[in-house]
Amino acid sequence: MITASAPGKIILFGEHAVVYGQPAIAVPFAALRVTVSPHPAPPGSGLEIDAPDVRQRLPVAGPEDRPFYNALIYPLRLALDALGSPAPDLRLTVRSTLPIGGGLGSGAALATALIRALGLALDRPFDPAALNALVYEVEKRHHGSPSGIDNTVIVYEQPVYFVRGQPLEFLSIARPLTLLVADSGISSPTRLTVGDMRALHEANPARTAPVFEQIGALVQQARRALETGSVDALGPLMDQNHALLRALTVSSALLDRLCAAARDAGARGAKLSGGGRGGSLIVLVDEEQAAAVDAALRRAGAVQVIRTTVRGPQ
Ligand code: PMV
Repeated sequence: MITASAPGKIILFGEHAVVYGQPAIAVPFAALRVTVSPHPAPPGSGLEIDAPDVRQRLPVAGPEDRPFYNALIYPLRLALDALGSPAPDLRLTVRSTLPIGGGLGSGAALATALIRALGLALDRPFDPAALNALVYEVEKRHHGSPSGIDNTVIVYEQPVYFVRGQPLEFLSIARPLTLLVADSGISSPTRLTVGDMRALHEANPARTAPVFEQIGALVQQARRALETGSVDALGPLMDQNHALLRALTVSSALLDRLCAAARDAGARGAKLSGGGRGGSLIVLVDEEQAAAVDAALRRAGAVQVIRTTVRGPQ
């Protein structure tokens, strides 16, 4: 049986500033994935989505029907439109281990896996560029003004150095890094943090623009450090990036407490990742410190901590 899947993603550096033209660095988070399995359905039954994790079973109306937006349905409607195909008789079963609103790209991963599965089931697989363009359209419905970093890193499943509107650049990571990804347990929709950032920027660009630029400069330093394997430089850069995100109001008391707990327990550096205000925190550790930092994060309130190795390209 064919199955399509897509990973989550981790923004290592540069979230939010990337919306305003600064570079950012993101890597796939292969441990957490959305998986979509197509199953044949009886003739005339149409296209149906079965998402047992969120207890939803939804019919996907044909492209000729009323405009309708839903995170499960919309990607499929876009894909059917792109293929010029009527809805087939098919059931798509969706499973996900990614937290929703967790700053790990759950929306883009869901759209990627759904569209991939549909293309495979119809024997008309999407090439990565076409898939990326469709998932970006979905992201626009979610966020209004997404940078495009989430769909890009998730569709290509490679580390990326991303600048909005520029040709895609993959990034090589010279030495594998051990990261702990801590879930704050607070679901924080990206649409809200991105919208608040826009309001802040429009109200007082003299305050936000220099911070975006500082983040951009730091991303370039991080790129060099990743490419040359200078792990020592990365922890302080993560700490600085977190402080700049806090200045932009997208941290929270809990995220700050988790960062402090991680550093006190011997982490090299820590920062929020993704939209902020909740969602995820990423922590750079040496293998020897990982267990102690993991325990400290849980004591400080993390509901889940996952250890992952960042390397690439795969
Ligand atoms: O919260 P997430 O995982 O969707 O990440 C959002 C990243 C932002 O830079 C805040 C927004 C964007 O479109 O790049």
